[in-house]
Amino acid sequence: MSDHGQAVYTASKDFIAAAHVDAAAYDRMYAASVADPEAFWAEQGKRIDWITPYTLVKNTDFTLGQVSIKWFEDGVLNVAANCVDRHLATRANQTAIIWEPDHPATPARHITYAQLHDGVCRMANVLKAQGVKKGDRVVMYLPMIPEAAFAMLACARIGAIHSIVFAGFSPDALANRINDSAAKVVITADFAPRGGKKTGLKANTDAALLHCSDRVKCLVVKHTGDQTTWIDGRDIDLKAEMAAASADCPAEPMGAEDPLFILYTSGSTGKPKGVVHTSGGYLVYAAMTHQITFDYQEGDVFWCTADVGWVTGHSYIIYGPLANGATTVMFEGVPTFPDASRFWQVCDKHKVTQFYTAPTAIRSLMGMGKEWVEKCDLSSLRLLGSVGEPINPEAWHWYNETVGKGRCPIVDTFWQTETGGHLITPLPGAIPQKPGSATKPFFGVKPIVLDPATAQIQQATETDGVLCIADSWPGQMRTLWGDHARFEEAYFSQYPGYYFTGDGCRRDADGYYWITGRVDDVINVSGHRMGTAEVESALVAHAQVAEAAVVGYPHDIKGQGIYAYVTLMNGVEPTDALRKELEGWVRTEIGPIAKPDLIQWAPGLPKTRSGKIMRRILRKIAENDFGALGDTSTLADPSVVDDLIANRMNRG
Ligand code: WT7
Repeated sequence: MSDHGQAVYTASKDFIAAAHVDAAAYDRMYAASVADPEAFWAEQGKRIDWITPYTLVKNTDFTLGQVSIKWFEDGVLNVAANCVDRHLATRANQTAIIWEPDHPATPARHITYAQLHDGVCRMANVLKAQGVKKGDRVVMYLPMIPEAAFAMLACARIGAIHSIVFAGFSPDALANRINDSAAKVVITADFAPRGGKKTGLKANTDAALLHCSDRVKCLVVKHTGDQTTWIDGRDIDLKAEMAAASADCPAEPMGAEDPLFILYTSGSTGKPKGVVHTSGGYLVYAAMTHQITFDYQEGDVFWCTADVGWVTGHSYIIYGPLANGATTVMFEGVPTFPDASRFWQVCDKHKVTQFYTAPTAIRSLMGMGKEWVEKCDLSSLRLLGSVGEPINPEAWHWYNETVGKGRCPIVDTFWQTETGGHLITPLPGAIPQKPGSATKPFFGVKPIVLDPATAQIQQATETDGVLCIADSWPGQMRTLWGDHARFEEAYFSQYPGYYFTGDGCRRDADGYYWITGRVDDVINVSGHRMGTAEVESALVAHAQVAEAAVVGYPHDIKGQGIYAYVTLMNGVEPTDALRKELEGWVRTEIGPIAKPDLIQWAPGLPKTRSGKIMRRILRKIAENDFGALGDTSTLADPSVVDDLIANRMNRG
């Protein structure tokens, strides 16, 4: 092994020479973006087409009690027209979407911008025929298929607000989101093939709709063609309706601040938060970050391996790339099916130039050995990206050497569902990379590091604390659906005047940011965000569970694993069968991604005399680091801690 030390990695001279932004341009543009955001974004807003140009650029206020975020507010545009129609004159026959199916033997599809226009307009007309109007909500629960892209853009075209629910979520989770957003329509498919297995999405939707209004219509993509139940009058065959619909559908003029989508994400309380993104600022930011962070150039083939059920899929499979007239890959499958070379085979097959994935995927593929990578031709790759959690240096070096052959810059992009696009990231031609650091802020982003105890801004360059952002950027979320008070409380109340990310971070002597992970009750499992409170409420909903406390612990592949302490009802026997049952229970309540990795039977939980569970102690025991539990003197019954240590589940 070579000694990687504190090395700094710079892109090649050729890469830098051709890049959109080099070091000098970064310094100049960044300084301008924070000195005069109005002028900077007035210019950047011109990246997209406006039906009525904006005269107002920035109108934002982070003051607690009156938080309000508006960008380009008097501008009028249509997001779908920007992602599709405006490219027709020059690139009607260029591939917009390369769809790579779950099984490599199924032919891939190359969807041109003209075909995308056709699909989007037809689907928009089907939605209209179902009574969907501007401002109505449409929930989507779909596999990674072209219809998911058509549906997102069809909503945008008619001004409906989409809310995608990841297909790995359970019927209950789907029902909650349909009800919270009061959706008129849910779009699903018969089955979702993934890794050679099929998930019955229609059956899950049927189960969800038992808990929803009878008026919710169900549009079904017959994707695999396998049989499902069918309720006449409620269920509609989407492909058949699209085939019969007109391919002409005018794009609705939308205000810049009209909502584009709602995306539910986990917070520190049990109820998921409906993050609202609007049209103008979001699209400008998604398009700009896609072009500059990934150095997207004409003719490139961009592949983001995320699912459209997450924000990464929204911004970097659909909206950013398509606004830029790019060719974007949409992959239905998983990295290990039919074998561990699938990612690299897809890169080879479609001559991918930029590849963007999560550290958890890199770590699991790294564990399978480099022969899976080496049998593919990866010479088309120019750049690699990482997102979702801090990337550990070992995975970074493997990615760099084995996948990138030492010639592809790696962009470690730090951002969140709430931020719409990248916040802190290397720009590949401008900012030298340090493995494990997200490096420097994107244009217009003003990170500040605060002392968590005093809320004082840390002035020294080299420091650590909690990460806040001092001013707004166009891609920022605007509110939580139906609950602006919770929005202010969740993001602006701990450190008044600033947007609080929920992450801790360190800033080194070069001004580079190193994200150290969440400081709230949110954990990051395989790059999926999970509220520990959500898992707890699922567990306590089980008849035999009296109490539960859930924390994260370090996991080699997933980043963090889910560790649950469970107190059973009086008289209930703790058995392995019950442990299995609880695992299955959480799967059905939330979804497979929330299944606890470890369940420890806890006769009691460490509580203060006022009854508050001391999670700090539970975290330490879960981390197998119980030597330094800190002050336990405020516990009502310190002896419970000894029992938890003696029976701890993680001894690795
Ligand atoms: C949380 C947001 C943004 C799309 C994927 C996740 C963590 C994200 C990084 C990174 C370190 C990262 C943070 C953040 N995170 N990217 N490059 N380095 N941590 O979106 O589900 O909203 O989760 O993911 O903890 O707060 P999300």
